[in-house]
Amino acid sequence: MIRVEDSFIILETKDLSYIIDILPSGKLEHVYLGPKTKSKLSDLKIKLDTMVGSQVLYSDLEPISLDLLPLEYSSIGKGDYRSMPLEVKMPNGSFVADFCYLKHEIKDGSLDYKLPHAKNATNTIIVTLVDKVNNVYLDLIYSSFYETNVFTRKVVLTNKNENSLSIRKIMSMMLDIYDKDYDIITFDGGWIKETNKHKRPVSYGLFSISSQTGASSNRHNAGFILSKKNTTEDYGTAIGFNLVYSGNHYSSIELANHGSIRVMSGINPHCFEWDLAENENFMTPEVVISYSNQGLNKLSHNMHNFINNHIIPENFKESLRPIVINNWESHMFDYNMRKLLKLAKRSAKLGIEMFVLDDGWFGNRDNDDRGLGDYFVNKKKLPKGLSKLSKRINKYNMDFGLWFEPEMINVDSNLYRSNSNYVVQVPGLEPSKGRNQLVLDLCNKEVVSYIKNELFKVIDSANIKYIKWDMNRSISDMYSESISNQGMFFHKYILGLYDILESITKKYPNILLETCSSGGNRFDLGMLTFGPQIWASDNTDPISRLKIQRGLSYLYPLSTISAHVSQSPHSQTLRHTPLETRFNVASFGVLGYELDFKELKPYELKMIKEQIRFYKEHRRLFQFGTFYRFDLDDIETYQVSNSNTHILGRFQVLSSPSPNIEKVSFKGIKEDKMYDVLSRRSKLNIDRFGHLIKHAIKIPFKHDGFVMRNVARYYVLENAKEKYTLDSNALLNGFYINQQFMGTYYNEKTRLLGDYGSELYIAKEIRNGKN
Ligand code: DGJ
Repeated sequence: MIRVEDSFIILETKDLSYIIDILPSGKLEHVYLGPKTKSKLSDLKIKLDTMVGSQVLYSDLEPISLDLLPLEYSSIGKGDYRSMPLEVKMPNGSFVADFCYLKHEIKDGSLDYKLPHAKNATNTIIVTLVDKVNNVYLDLIYSSFYETNVFTRKVVLTNKNENSLSIRKIMSMMLDIYDKDYDIITFDGGWIKETNKHKRPVSYGLFSISSQTGASSNRHNAGFILSKKNTTEDYGTAIGFNLVYSGNHYSSIELANHGSIRVMSGINPHCFEWDLAENENFMTPEVVISYSNQGLNKLSHNMHNFINNHIIPENFKESLRPIVINNWESHMFDYNMRKLLKLAKRSAKLGIEMFVLDDGWFGNRDNDDRGLGDYFVNKKKLPKGLSKLSKRINKYNMDFGLWFEPEMINVDSNLYRSNSNYVVQVPGLEPSKGRNQLVLDLCNKEVVSYIKNELFKVIDSANIKYIKWDMNRSISDMYSESISNQGMFFHKYILGLYDILESITKKYPNILLETCSSGGNRFDLGMLTFGPQIWASDNTDPISRLKIQRGLSYLYPLSTISAHVSQSPHSQTLRHTPLETRFNVASFGVLGYELDFKELKPYELKMIKEQIRFYKEHRRLFQFGTFYRFDLDDIETYQVSNSNTHILGRFQVLSSPSPNIEKVSFKGIKEDKMYDVLSRRSKLNIDRFGHLIKHAIKIPFKHDGFVMRNVARYYVLENAKEKYTLDSNALLNGFYINQQFMGTYYNEKTRLLGDYGSELYIAKEIRNGKN
């Protein structure tokens, strides 16, 4: 809800208030962001009654220093010396800009906006500021999302001057707060180690999080959190920010004079320059802001509900996502129809719902140095084409999905041979390659429409229900002949990408689009407005995934995190992990498999069948339930909940000798209810025990001999099954679980977790004696 009372603009959600004061000078003071308040608004304002040294005063009429005021947006040259959200060479040739309040307008819902943005806002206010000397206008646009406790912000700069202006930096939002003892939490990494959480104190100077690879990147996710010292998962204050954008981003946090913290976020000014002629405007991407005074979990809940309800495409809102088999890790480029159908048949038997054909089905794509750009079927691999393949897959009662990497091209391709001018490159300079490929020039409208048409042809040629949209290199050699100012390159590229994605999703609104960029190299809210889920990482090792998925979970819901069970030892970490732990981790997300089932032992196939049955039973909970993290401990713990079922996942990274007696507790349990609590624990293959097996099962055979090797193909050790009847208080306060293996004896009650072991506890409310 948004209203204006006297000089105050008040934005509200269910639990939050955001308050702005329009000062007599026309500057906008940021007054408040926090839990909903009914205070006298003027009493919430900053108290500035005394002159401060080394300050420049704004004007004789209003002798205030902009340097001390918490502002909503600032500009250069009128006494605010903190870092600036806007750097524009104005029509009069000066960098000085003096934007002051002109008018405001409140509208229902979200604005029609050319860039990806959150839909169905409760309402929106456009506050128009003007720089009168230059006749340039700046709209500050705020929306409130009442139910999800989120505000969004963006700006539009319009030039009404007959002379043009040039933008060098334009942030989507700025927020000034005076508060002590904040930490900055960011989510950083690289290929196969995305979104690891890092925390450090806000301290004097300027701290920035950015990407300049042309994508939002796996180096630093665009989302970040400011949290008060000692904030935990369930207690304390945290403010979360994220950007609805897939290109170069930039956010900064500056602790300045007198303790002011200035936060900004938007398009990265790196290599950015955008000219506006008379009557042209520039729209920035949208920033998402939420606040919690109940710890990081509550902040995540706000962000999760917001993304599930306002960011992902309408058609996929709350829609259960299929369990896929993706053939990449099993086949790479080496397959034919027979191999694919065998994998499909085995997958169908296990209960898998979608068969995804990954890289290698087109052109001469037998390796990663050729074929990109040529989206016609490779007849050696698929002589009867995609249509036949999709029909055969459908006969197994599975849907068919297909991989593309539309933004890229190999030199060894027909497209390159006929249209090398489609490539991003500086005239006269050999372009640098990444994964043997070059980038297509998405700034160029001709290239954009070529890609659209090629994709439409393929999509229309078969019964395709899912598309995996990949992008496997960063941009270099940025230059496009289609634009006069190369400072526009990076943003224009993203606009070209959004144009293609919008055409695809408009023409095929029911195709499930999973985006990917070498894993999570473009995990952002911009991509999520087109495709509701993203391949989180090429690293499917569950122990690495614990960090990656935990990191993502702070700002993205489980329904967006695509997570697959793959082989062990893992191809990137060489770690051996139990199949059940691989499943338990992947199930806190959108589950899929990347396994060649023909290589699995019979007991493993049995386990997978049961995993799929279990996931289907609880799919809504795993994808759309309320997700809780527990503060980090020896055992990493997650929980998903709905009104009557709660599943706790416990992951033991390393086992301890003679471990402590353990209690477990649940979060967010309704009072005065009774629950059945059941354990679902990894079954253990006897291989795992080597020669020790003779102590557990009294069979007088050598553990690596013929008999035991064959027994191990079929036989697994049951792990302690637990069942308790407990009330809400016991679940919240914690209850004892069976002992882990203490290095002594083993019996049917012993919880055998070992290194990389894991377990799930399922608490179901008992209603009328049933659950
Ligand atoms: C990178 C992706 O992340 C993988 O899942 C796979 O699709 C390969 N590209 C194919 O080249």
